[in-house]
Amino acid sequence: MKIRIDGKVSDIRAVWCEEGVVRMLDQRILPHRVEVLGFRDHHRVAEAIKDMTVRGAPAIGVAAAYGMMLAANNDEDLQKAAKELKGTRPTAHDLFFAVDHMLSRIREGDDPTEAAEEYAETIVERCRLIGEHGERLIKDGDKIMTHCNAGALATVDWGTALAPIRAAWRNGKEIFVYVSETRPRLQGMKLTAFELLNEGIPHAIIPDGASGHFLREGVDMVIVGADRIAANGDFANKIGTFEKAVLAKELDVPFYTAAPLSTFDLGIKRGEDIPIEYRGEEEVTVVDGVRIAPQGCKALNPGFDVTPAKYLSGIITESGILKPEDIAKRLRGAKL
Ligand code: MRU
Repeated sequence: MKIRIDGKVSDIRAVWCEEGVVRMLDQRILPHRVEVLGFRDHHRVAEAIKDMTVRGAPAIGVAAAYGMMLAANNDEDLQKAAKELKGTRPTAHDLFFAVDHMLSRIREGDDPTEAAEEYAETIVERCRLIGEHGERLIKDGDKIMTHCNAGALATVDWGTALAPIRAAWRNGKEIFVYVSETRPRLQGMKLTAFELLNEGIPHAIIPDGASGHFLREGVDMVIVGADRIAANGDFANKIGTFEKAVLAKELDVPFYTAAPLSTFDLGIKRGEDIPIEYRGEEEVTVVDGVRIAPQGCKALNPGFDVTPAKYLSGIITESGILKPEDIAKRLRGAKL
């Protein structure tokens, strides 16, 4: 992804490895400061996933793969490392997929560094392909709504929901993106708008509550990411996704999720069984260090909601655009 740092445009990834050190852009302080952190052990990588230095399902998966690499290269107990990394965030399936993938590669005798690098490259390539497939849905002049950040920051490079948008823009299509701010952590306003600005893609930030208004005013399609997709196509994504999907159906606006196959959890039959992360109430009650809610008020802060498959027009994957009812048939035996 292109990022302007001190007036200079740099091509940078959200997570990478350099001479045995795992590097991450610190997503907690974007867009105002661009800082790269370095990690030499898996405990610190686990902390970075938990405190959201790195976030977004595929990027969490890649960070965890590098965490397993560090554990192996530091001669740590791999089962313990796997448990620690898996214990950081409960919803994004990529985390569990990546750790299990690394355990099996290391068990087979593969070099941990090579395995982690290959995992990262595979995710980047899958996202590029998501862009290629999804771009065909976008017409010149389309207005597209997205939610949270499902861009390069959330996936290492390209993005999932943002990959078709990037590809359409690079292919010369005049598009416009509505970016919902995504309370309470504001990943839409802070991260998606930052990515679009850096690419020069026309966009506007909207309050989450304005989604219905703009869906009725002429949004042509909605594309969001996913944290976990169940076998029947129900999927978890950032809180606020569900209500956009219901409104989109009511207003006849096509609604897509975009995700690599590593986000599918075929072991989970329905959305109700997806574990939902609840986060601290201070994320809701405190804004920029200032308590806004009256002292004594409680807040509830689910990080994700589940959108039933019936609201989906399709799932944009690296293998093409799937209908929820085709998941079982198309993905049975596939290399996730
Ligand atoms: O809590 P976050 O910021 O990790 O949540 C991220 C999302 O919900 C994204 O939409 C999802 O992970 C898809 S990322 C390509």
